[in-house]
Amino acid sequence: MSEITGAILGRASEPRLQAPAPGNDVLNEAFACAARAPDHALLRPWRYLVIEGDGLDALADVLARAADDSAMPSEAKLRSMPRRAPMIIAAITRHQSHPKVPAVEETLSTGCGVAYLLLALQAHGFAGMWRTGPANYHPVVHEGLGLADNESLAGLIYVGTPIQRKPAVPRPESNEFVQRWPAQGI
Ligand SMILES: Cc1cc2nc3c(=O)[nH]c(=O)nc-3n(C[C@H](O)[C@H](O)[C@H](O)COP(=O)(O)O)c2cc1C
Repeated sequence: MSEITGAILGRASEPRLQAPAPGNDVLNEAFACAARAPDHALLRPWRYLVIEGDGLDALADVLARAADDSAMPSEAKLRSMPRRAPMIIAAITRHQSHPKVPAVEETLSTGCGVAYLLLALQAHGFAGMWRTGPANYHPVVHEGLGLADNESLAGLIYVGTPIQRKPAVPRPESNEFVQRWPAQGI
């Protein structure tokens, strides 16, 4: 097994996170990894917001505004969400009009970047958890985070030092989700 595949096979999201969050050196390396995401036409269709300290209180205020919508969780629940980690990284897709690149490809590129970001953080002993939930798609939250009309929120990545590793997630065997095509005849 290579060092890289070993790191990927060891990847796990961790919901229980505490300080310290990664410092600038680790973050810069992780974002450099995120920028290696495959990217059709090199549109660079992603940007990230790093939120910590007082920023988490400001994010709690932004999320709480969505509670006016009865389809959203309660204000108390929304306010408590940013307290789950010492740092949150908002992953944003910047949709651009390109004749050869449909919007879904920009979202996919962002997802690849987030995956690399998570792996890079894990390589330095940190952990993360990608979360969305209904507030992720609420216009009040987008406005509060300063998203432009052509941007969407791919998710909030909760980042920190794991308090306790979660139980192992069962992973499917490749023969459960991979086939040869066309199907092999008998
Ligand atoms: C786009 C996206 C959104 C997600 N949103 C949530 C979420 O809101 N809440 C949650 O518990 N897990 C969410 N997850 C799943 C976790 O990040 C995580 O992948 C899952 O718990 C499985 O753990 P693992 O990453 O260790 O396999 C999301 C994953 C993705 C890719």
